[in-house]
Amino acid sequence: MKVRFFDMQRHLRPIRKVVDQAINEVVDSGRFIGGPAVERFEQEFADLVGTRFAVSVSSGTDALLSTMMAMGIGSGDEVITSPFTFFATAGSIVRTGAVPVFADILPDTFELDPDSVMQRVGRRTRAVIPVHLFGRMAQVEPYLDAGLTVIEDAAQSVLARGPEGNAGGVGSAGCFSFFPAKNLGAFGDAGAVTTNDPELAATLRAVRTHGATKKYYHPMVGGNFRMDALQAAVLSAEMPFLQGWTDARRNNAATYARLFNEAGLSNQGLVTLPGEGDGYFHVYNQYVVRAQHRDALRAFLNDQGIQNAVYYPKPLHLQECFKDLGYKPGDLPRAEQACNEVLALPVYPELKREEIEAVVSAIDQFYKGL
Ligand SMILES: Cc1ncc(COP(=O)(O)O)c(C=O)c1O
Repeated sequence: MKVRFFDMQRHLRPIRKVVDQAINEVVDSGRFIGGPAVERFEQEFADLVGTRFAVSVSSGTDALLSTMMAMGIGSGDEVITSPFTFFATAGSIVRTGAVPVFADILPDTFELDPDSVMQRVGRRTRAVIPVHLFGRMAQVEPYLDAGLTVIEDAAQSVLARGPEGNAGGVGSAGCFSFFPAKNLGAFGDAGAVTTNDPELAATLRAVRTHGATKKYYHPMVGGNFRMDALQAAVLSAEMPFLQGWTDARRNNAATYARLFNEAGLSNQGLVTLPGEGDGYFHVYNQYVVRAQHRDALRAFLNDQGIQNAVYYPKPLHLQECFKDLGYKPGDLPRAEQACNEVLALPVYPELKREEIEAVVSAIDQFYKGL
């Protein structure tokens, strides 16, 4: 049986009518930039995350960039983050003129390791960006307790929570992405920043419109980082379905865990399943296992038509564009090892039980044939 990594048509079919109607309303209104659709979404999203404010922006990348710009982070500053994340997390730091400082991750959850971060805090440190990777919340409080500014990269983790609170609601700001394949996905690029800080929210609103606090008056330089009204309307229309989609992802993860255990794959250490942890609510934007002989397994699955992905094959500290930062292989061994072992399996909400069975049985077949 062929299994798709994500089937957008299957995902959208049940909600097409409501979303089409929301799109038509925006088209009829003629308000494509700002306006009621955007304001409504911002209120709904702030309520969802449990923060005072949500400022909508053009993407998750721009959420990170505009947050750092609004905080005045730039040349001469350092921002500590994970090397095991999507490029945007570190790329945005560099775009402000600041220097990314990479700390290592914890092996079980792939999250930033607070001890490794603390060893790298210096007088130039302006902020820490923990990444709530794959849908599981990373620790935030150790950094807040140390008096550091924390920007949560919650791009993959809408609705996730942990013992400290909701993803995007604990640090100074939370940065979300609504890229179509995210748990809450727009029909294009979109993002948001959540915060409880009224000054930061106001500065962010200026930053997303070229730093203008009043039309054509610019006390600072910003960019065009606005969310389209059409995307806001799509996201508001989808929001009532988010909890159900998340529950379906969690059910799929539970099914994987059961089937992997039944097949004996997890007990033999061939496949290490993603952990959730007490007090955590994992939203499984990705279902990522560690697999022995990962690349051979990938090739085998691809041959069988079972789609899969590797997030991420190369850690950020070893990316060519960051070579001037001077990192070398072996500097952050846990992140480097993760890059060689991780494998993301299909987990989208509409995935069928037979499809999950087909994935696990193909993996079982691969290891039996070794
Ligand atoms: C961890 C992380 N940070 C930032 C981003 C950037 O979001 P966007 O693609 O909406 O710009 C993503 C998106 O894939 C992400 O996964």
